[in-house]
Parts: sequence; C-alpha cells; structure tokens
Amino acid sequence: MPDKNLAIITLAAGLGTRMHSPLPKCLHKIAHRPMVLHVLDTAKELEPQKLICITGPDQKALEDIVNEAGAQSIIQKERLGTAHAVLQASDELKDFDGIVLVTYGDTPMISSESLSALVEAVAQNNDIIASVLGFYTDDPGSYGRLILNDDDELIRIVEAKEASPNELLVNFVNSGFMALKSPECWDILAEVSNNNNSGEYYLTDMVCVAVMQGHKAVAVEGYAEELMGVNTKVELAHLEELTQEQLREYHMLAGVTLLSPTSTFFAYDTQIGEGCRIEPNVFFGEGVQIGKSCHIKANSHIEGATVGNHCQIGPFARLRPEAVIGDNCHIGNFVEVKKSTIANGAKINHLTYIGDATIGERTNVGAGTITCNYDGFFKYPTQIGADVFIGSNTSFVAPVTVGDGSTTAAGSVITSDVAAESLAITRAERRDIANWSTNFRKKQKAKKEN
Ligand code: UD1
Ligand code: MG
Repeated sequence: MPDKNLAIITLAAGLGTRMHSPLPKCLHKIAHRPMVLHVLDTAKELEPQKLICITGPDQKALEDIVNEAGAQSIIQKERLGTAHAVLQASDELKDFDGIVLVTYGDTPMISSESLSALVEAVAQNNDIIASVLGFYTDDPGSYGRLILNDDDELIRIVEAKEASPNELLVNFVNSGFMALKSPECWDILAEVSNNNNSGEYYLTDMVCVAVMQGHKAVAVEGYAEELMGVNTKVELAHLEELTQEQLREYHMLAGVTLLSPTSTFFAYDTQIGEGCRIEPNVFFGEGVQIGKSCHIKANSHIEGATVGNHCQIGPFARLRPEAVIGDNCHIGNFVEVKKSTIANGAKINHLTYIGDATIGERTNVGAGTITCNYDGFFKYPTQIGADVFIGSNTSFVAPVTVGDGSTTAAGSVITSDVAAESLAITRAERRDIANWSTNFRKKQKAKKEN
C-alpha cells in the first residue's frame, strides 16, 4: 500500500459503440460479473481514500451498480473523451494531496499488484508527475502507442488514429491505467485540447502537455494478459475465455476434478468443495456453493443454488436460484429445482419440477412429479415432510402440505393436505371392455376398404 493518499477514478461513461449493444459497455459481464465491478473490486484492494466512477448520462443501471459497490458515481454529461472524463472528478479532487490513479472500466483483468506498482512509480519519485501502465504486444491494433526518449522516459502517447506509419509499428502500448500526482495534475489536464481526428479530449495527451511543461513521466511495463481492454464482443469473448481458463485452474488446484475442463464454465464467485467431480458440459451461474465430494454429472446447469456434501446432481439437472440441497441428496436427469429446500438424503431422480417447496429428509420423489406452484398470478408453497414416498406422476396443486411418512399413489393430483402416514390416491376407477380393440380394428378396416 502506498504511504501517500490515494484516490482512484474508474472511467466507465463510454457508450461502447463498437459493442453494438443497448447495454453500457462496462456492464457487460466476464464470468457473470460486470466488467466495471471487476475493476472496482481490484481498486478496493488498494484501500483508496476515495473511489470515484465516471458514468454517463442515461446510465442509471450502471450508476446504481457502482454506488452499491461503494464507489461514488459522477456523471459525465457529455462524452468528450477520456481526459474530459477524468476532469469530471476535479471538483471533488482539486485539493487532494496524493496520487490519483485512473483505471478503465473496460479493462477488467487488472491485478492489484500491477496497480500498486504503477502508484509506487509516481509516489517514490518527486520528479515524476505521471506513470502509465503499458505492455508489449504483437498486435498493437487500436491501442495508444507509448513513445519513449533515449533515457526511457515517456514523452508522448499517440493514439492509433493519430499515429504516423512509423509510430503504428511501435508495439509498446497504453493500457489506459495511469497514476498522476494531485493536485498538480488538474491544471495540466485542463490544458489538454481536442484538436485531433476524433475531436475528443484524450487523456493520453496529458503526457505530452506535462513533458512540455518540464515534468517527467514514465511507462511501467505490465502483463499483457491483465491489460487487454474490451471494445468489441470479440474482445469480450476472448477475455471471458482467459478468465474461464484461470477459474478452471483455480478449482482444479483446490481439489476439484474436471473431466473436461474446457467444457466447464464457472462464475467469478463459484465455490466448490474438495473432492468434487464434475463431468463435461456443466455450467455454473452466479452465486453457487457446492459442498465436498459431490458428483456433478454431465450437462447440468446450476445458478444461485447451494448444495451440501456427497450429493449427486445430474446428468441434465437444472438448479435455479434459491435451490438449497442438503447432504447426500440425489437430483437426477431432467429435474428442475427452484426456490426450494431439499433436506438431507432426499432423492428426486427423474423428470420433475420442484418450485417453492420444502422436501423433508429421506423423502423419495417419483418420476414425473410436478409442484403446480403458479396460477398465472401468484406463487404458492408445497410442503412435503420427511420419509414421504411420492408416487410417479404426482401433481401437487399448491398450496398443499404433505405429512411425514405418507405416500401418494402414482398419477395422483393432490389438491388438499395429506395426513402423516396415510396414502393419498386420486385415480379414476378402471373400466375394462372385453374385445373392444378387435371390434374397433374390424370396423375401421371395413371402412377403409369401401
Ligand atoms: C483508450 C486509450 C488508449 C488505450 C486504450 C486501452 C485514450 C484517448 N485512449 O482507448 O490509448 O490504448 O484505452 O484500452 O484514452 N470513457 C469515458 N468517457 C469518455 C470516453 C471514454 O468515461 O468520454 C471511458 C470508457 O467507458 C472506457 C474508457 O474510458 O471505460 C476508455 O474509453 P475507450 O473509448 O474504450 O478508449 P479506447 O479507444 O479503448
Ligand atoms: Mg477501450
């Protein structure tokens, strides 16, 4: 942690036109977490005195998310470029004595170690007013090029749009992350002009303005895999893939067996206990917690669910938000569980929908069971006790309560409560008509031949 005061500004106001999406760019997710929150999470690790996020007009959802994360949002009413975006925080920070760290909400893989190194480069040297985090790449594309002098000092950053053919060949590029000395930086930033091909106030031009005024700037080399920014859906997919690789490695090193790592997809917050085995094509959404030694079979989709120890889930299981599964449970193929609590040892093995329900210990739910929890207007609960045997193809028309140790007969539609230890059966009486099939066939055949 730097000894100096630290303020962090995250830029997130851009429209992200290259994403061709109604969603603000920085709200696009990596491993189920909006990019801007990845950046704010990392920023918080540096324990800044102030954490500010620049958002755009008409981006209420972004503002809410940022505020909820504990950052102060400041609206950039007109999107006039990155320098203009940073200047939106000048009223808040013009008297701030310390380091201002500028981070980009579209560069989510940054680590706190790299940010600290960038801050230190300015904090440790009185002559330096700005440090810029750069990286080497074979494909410099649209990144700004870092131009150094013979003493390896940073003298200019040239945006790709403004670069000469020779400058375009430079493969040391700007990540966007920049540490600045405050309050000196504010007067310099105010002098950046928009006299360029985009008519924007480029934050990158601040380096040139500072150097012309006799200040020094440096480039700190970082890791390319942390510093790639997202401007298109192709880049978003690329970072998602990199993040998934990291998450797979993390879980495997923590004792989870992945039979087909590349077909297992994790969320940023997935928790899985030691000794779990995960078969191919398993998808984890946000908010999943799995206990120890569970076997998650192929093609299961799990989000917002908690699973205890020693469970078997799948193949083809779907656990939806607020599904809470105890220890030693079986949730089998084509079983969907939503907002329901399944107690220890319960088994729901085939073709079933359980929603807004509680199911007691050791209860066995037969194939094709449905909790009819919705009447088109409201949701209703189904409460099933312990040691219940639910016959195949039972429908529970909620609200309904089923007592401990009871049984429902296959094919029953249960519309009212069932007492403990009883049998509930709602089948129509069977009627057999002898030789009906023979006669029917004869009749139809004759009709066809005429
Ligand atoms: C920027 C840098 C470029 C660098 C690249 C790294 C500038 C001028 N260029 O280019 O040198 O290599 O990032 O990824 O800084 N934003 C605002 N308000 C604005 C404009 C942008 O808040 O008016 C925000 C965006 O939401 C985004 C960030 O600033 O989070 C960067 O903007 P973007 O348009 O993506 O800049 P790049 O073209 O990627
Ligand atoms: Mg960008």
